[in-house]
Amino acid sequence: MKVDVLLGLQWGDEGKGKVVDVLTPRYDVVARFQGGPNAGHTLEFEGKKYVLRSIPSGIFQHGQINVIGNGVVLDPVLFRQEAEELEKSGIDLRSILRISKKVHLIAPTHRLLDAASEAAKGGKKIGTTGKGIGPTYTDKISRNGLRLGDVFHNFDEKYATLRNLHLTRLAALGATPDEETLAGLEKTWMDAIEYLKGFGIVDSEFLINGLLAEGKSVLCEGAQGTLLDIDFGSYPFVTSSNTICSGACSGLGVAPNRIGEVFGIFKAYCTRVGSGPFPTELFDETGKRIRDLGHEYGAVTGRERRCGWIDLVALRYAIMINGVTQLIMMKSDVLDGFDEIKACTAYRINGEETRQFPYSIEDGIEPVYTTLPGWKTDMTRMQSEDEFPKEFSDYIAFLEKELATPITIVSIGPDRKQTIERRK
Ligand code: GDP
Ligand code: IMO
Ligand code: MG
Repeated sequence: MKVDVLLGLQWGDEGKGKVVDVLTPRYDVVARFQGGPNAGHTLEFEGKKYVLRSIPSGIFQHGQINVIGNGVVLDPVLFRQEAEELEKSGIDLRSILRISKKVHLIAPTHRLLDAASEAAKGGKKIGTTGKGIGPTYTDKISRNGLRLGDVFHNFDEKYATLRNLHLTRLAALGATPDEETLAGLEKTWMDAIEYLKGFGIVDSEFLINGLLAEGKSVLCEGAQGTLLDIDFGSYPFVTSSNTICSGACSGLGVAPNRIGEVFGIFKAYCTRVGSGPFPTELFDETGKRIRDLGHEYGAVTGRERRCGWIDLVALRYAIMINGVTQLIMMKSDVLDGFDEIKACTAYRINGEETRQFPYSIEDGIEPVYTTLPGWKTDMTRMQSEDEFPKEFSDYIAFLEKELATPITIVSIGPDRKQTIERRK
């Protein structure tokens, strides 16, 4: 009956995986709608930790169908690794996972093209995750892509055409692969496609709309974040898909009027991995302290995440673009020991203050900060908002006023249980 969307409002890694897992028992279906194995969604419960890349975060609760929608790009090799790991730990993935025939396949040469394109950009590289995301979406949009459904129709011929195109592009970039290496990669890839055929490959738009017609509910799980969106993010330092709410419609085949709640997730501070502008980035001890306390290292690549104060100009923009109805604040506990917390409420550009997110944030942005007192209390074992220290409740009230949107869930640690729902 209803489709709710949960997505990141910053530059990714806000904690989407954790919250999807927490909210899953309220839904019948959990669906990924864009991105691919560039995502790394971490879940922790019962002393165990899992990092999901292409598989939705709704697989650990009971009875939900999990869907990889048409808007996703899938690497069969990485999918196989991820699925085999999960099957080993006792998850009956084949009975709960459905994959759209229309997902685009990431081929080994897409990854080679990703690396070659980054190398060609030199000092201007995007700092991609190297998973072939850009080249795969490029082929999708330029109508050269391979879809999962193609594995059942003239696949060898279609793959040969794509392969030739890629080898020409790689040669132009001076990155022709060694034949033997490529043959090895292709063998592993073809084997992984055979493995993939053992899963439910479906017309997922019919599956989801059919379930909605039966009165079932769907939670859509975003990957990356709004500031990495191909249209509204910090272009060109973005990913290659629509990470925003409308991406759930095109990435699953659900109509816009089906969308109900839009949960927008943000950290109590801000991080970014890869290159690109970041107005509130901290290069000092405070930035380092946030990185250490928040364990801010990439779940996919292990890279250090750049850290800074919360940026309310960017958050207001993300709330507007997505139509966010509820905010979820993550990693509040990371700031537990700070004397003071800063929040960027406006940008000063050429001496003028603005609260509106500008066309480009690359140069000349000076963040205008409001400083708030820290709460200096370990919140990680708290059970309800009644235990929150006054300074923390004041921080929440300040953010709600600045963002004109309620914060309904607060996360105080990585574990499923360290999640506090606020009274509406
Ligand atoms: P995602 O990509 O949005 O799912 O987020 P990631 O999993 O990449 O990064 C979030 C990281 O923060 C993971 O390591 C989580 O285990 C961790 N995490 C999530 N919520 C909290 C929280 O409230 N406090 C702390 N300290 N860690 C958290
Ligand atoms: P989750 O879902 C954080 C970043 C990369 C790079 C840019 C483009 O875990 O939040 P790509 O490989 O997509 O072409 O890289 O986007 N990036 C992410 N940063 N979290 C992610 O996913 C990301 N996925 C891509 O670091 O700057
Ligand atoms: Mg992540």
